[in-house]
Amino acid sequence: MSELVISGLRGGPDGKEILRGLDLVVRSGEVHALMGPNGSGKSTLSHVLMGRPGYEVTGGTVTLDGVDLLALPTWKRAQAGLFLGLQYPTEVPGVSLLDAMEASLRARAGGSSLPVPTMDEVAAMLLAEAERIGFDERFLIRPLNVGLSGGEKKRNETLQLGVLTPKFAVLDEIDSGLDVDALKAVSRRVMQSAQTDGLGVLAITHYNRLLDELRPDVVHVFVKGAIVASGGPELALELETTGYEPYARLAPDEPTPIGSGRPLLDPFADPFA
Ligand SMILES: Nc1ncnc2c1ncn2[C@@H]1O[C@H](COP(=O)(O)OP(=O)(O)OP(=O)(O)O)[C@@H](O)[C@H]1O
Ligand SMILES: [Mg+2]
Repeated sequence: MSELVISGLRGGPDGKEILRGLDLVVRSGEVHALMGPNGSGKSTLSHVLMGRPGYEVTGGTVTLDGVDLLALPTWKRAQAGLFLGLQYPTEVPGVSLLDAMEASLRARAGGSSLPVPTMDEVAAMLLAEAERIGFDERFLIRPLNVGLSGGEKKRNETLQLGVLTPKFAVLDEIDSGLDVDALKAVSRRVMQSAQTDGLGVLAITHYNRLLDELRPDVVHVFVKGAIVASGGPELALELETTGYEPYARLAPDEPTPIGSGRPLLDPFADPFA
């Protein structure tokens, strides 16, 4: 049983404190859905967890089975078992998916007793995964994500998840851009990983339809950088009718901007008064 523990997490990009005290525990095999308005900081959370350059942590801790993830570079966080499916997967010209996966699996094994698969074995794993989620094998030899459609990129993220078998996956809108068949295949695949391999999932989404197949144990409402409510799958349904408005008042206070003590200049004031 593994545990990803996020406690009092604060931080964001370029010195902006977007996350304002986030607490969350995800255990092996659990599926958590994180839902919140645009701009509330969901992707910021995913970047802070994975250690994206330019993102600063101003408070709190993140541990994976007791290991301080925040002290590690991104590749070591991945090695420790954390995976991020990006909202906007990056195109990497010149690097094939096969090369990227082979390097990742080799890095993951790094010095441990885990077996390092051969290139042929990695290719076979990719083909098997591609078939499971209906991803066209023609794309496997393309440079990573280059020229793929939005939905194809999301399937590509899922394929990598299937090959890498991490302990925890943060999936940032893995459903966006997927057609109905792809949505089913992708959510089913992630659910299988949770049920059979004990993958812990933090699925960021705007839509209930992802959660038809990828059935969450817990749904969290995320507003202005913190979780303000948690509940069962019925909470996701409720949000469809209420929206986030009832939760806005539960959000943490905005940090006081520098200089906010000064009186504002009135643009309509008489300049000769
Ligand atoms: N590099 C940056 N510099 C300044 N502000 C940023 C930067 N990156 C993100 N932000 C701001 O941080 C806030 C949170 O953005 P984030 O992408 O985390 O939102 P989100 O909850 O994922 O939204 P969505 O549902 O639209 O994907 C937004 O107001 C965004 O404009
Ligand atoms: Mg986002």
